[in-house]
Amino acid sequence: MAATSMDQLVSLCKRRGFIFQNADIYGGLQGVYDYGPLGVELKNNLKAAWWRAMVYERDDVEGLDAAILTNQKVLHYSGHEDTFSDPMTDCRKCKGRFRADHIKDGKCPNCGSTDLTEPRPFNLMFKTAIGPVDDGSSFGYLRPETAQAIFTQFKNVVDSTSRKLPFGIAQIGKSFRNEITPRNFIFRVREFEQAELEYFVAPGEDEKWHEIWKEERIKWWEEQGLKRENINIYTTPKDDLAHYAKACYDIEYQFPHGMEELEGIANRTDYDLGNHTKAQDEMNLTSHCHANSDSTQKLCIMDDSNKWVVPFVIEPSMGVDRGVLAVMTEAYTEEDLGEGNSRIVLKLKKHLAPIKVAVIPLKKNNEQIMAKCHEIKKNLLKLGIGRVALENTGNIGKAYRRHDEIGTPICITVDFETIEQQPESVTIRDRDTMEQHRVNIADLAAYLRDYFLA
Ligand code: GAP
Repeated sequence: MAATSMDQLVSLCKRRGFIFQNADIYGGLQGVYDYGPLGVELKNNLKAAWWRAMVYERDDVEGLDAAILTNQKVLHYSGHEDTFSDPMTDCRKCKGRFRADHIKDGKCPNCGSTDLTEPRPFNLMFKTAIGPVDDGSSFGYLRPETAQAIFTQFKNVVDSTSRKLPFGIAQIGKSFRNEITPRNFIFRVREFEQAELEYFVAPGEDEKWHEIWKEERIKWWEEQGLKRENINIYTTPKDDLAHYAKACYDIEYQFPHGMEELEGIANRTDYDLGNHTKAQDEMNLTSHCHANSDSTQKLCIMDDSNKWVVPFVIEPSMGVDRGVLAVMTEAYTEEDLGEGNSRIVLKLKKHLAPIKVAVIPLKKNNEQIMAKCHEIKKNLLKLGIGRVALENTGNIGKAYRRHDEIGTPICITVDFETIEQQPESVTIRDRDTMEQHRVNIADLAAYLRDYFLA
């Protein structure tokens, strides 16, 4: 088990404004959470790190931001209407409903009864009426994965960018699943975000690329602060594979509740593009596809020998919310400072920290000191390092504790020496070492640029 408990994280998230239960004032909505002032920054920083690594730092990936509302036919031909379900069982005694594969020793997790119904499939997709007439004839779904729009827009992206294999399309966005038993805070929820890459490769090259992406993604998670010893690679047994996959690695992380899936890296073969392709019989597909009479397109690309092929797909798919939970679990530290003192410090990697720099006046509401604080903040914002916060509480010790708890790497204190002596200088305090030293204001920009951007 992880050293950090879920209670510690939930408490910090609420106390400091990272994550709140949705509709709290009405008793909540189960499996739905809202990100607060610091949570939104942390989540955005994690997504930005992913986008940077997947799109900006590569020369073979394009981005996409597709709609959440999904045409029923897309999820019919993708196989989700028929197969995207979990086994559900009811307890006849307490009337509770549970995922059958989460039941231990044949006992109801709620009341312990063994009087349970036979498991039956429960489709996880949220169905919704589209248009003003709700008579069941016009409906769509909230997407259960972001991937499908990448497949349906494949041809448009290829035609507009002239891409050749191998190349990828990346997307970050909300997905929705009507989980039977949402649980473990933001780990299993009904509304969540995914960051998915569909990487298209020539048939026959898929196994090689599956291995390459596994290694790439482990490296990326380590760069986000996860220790390798807290990561496990799980090879999904053939019987447990999703309906579209030929093979899958799960990157698992030691969450507070146990070693569980953080990201899936699947070999989806030509299953999806094949399923959304018209006249499949001409396409020499390897996967088992629906007979598609609705699609107007052949989702294929010319290979090196000028032959039309339906590419295979390797898909690293991360849960953004699970990512937030993982980096917080890893970063949460309680430190004994001796003499009965302790502190909580969130040792987030600096690029993930919600606030990069806190500018703190030694004395509350002192006009001269405050004017200097505002000037410093304005100049630091120009560096593009992220959020710089001005703290006007007047209690330095409390301000340091608060910023330790929320993971602010650098605190800058503006005191009387700053405004009275030349050259103007400030105190800089480091979150992890708690060491303080003075830096001239004239050197501040270069110091922080080096610290955050080098
Ligand atoms: N497109 C492939 C796909 O959706 P998945 O394994 O079902 O594959 C990918 O989901 C990732 O999305 C998971 O590894 C997990 O991090 C995240 N995820 C899935 N269901 C989730 C849920 N109910 N709550 C939070 N995250 C979830």
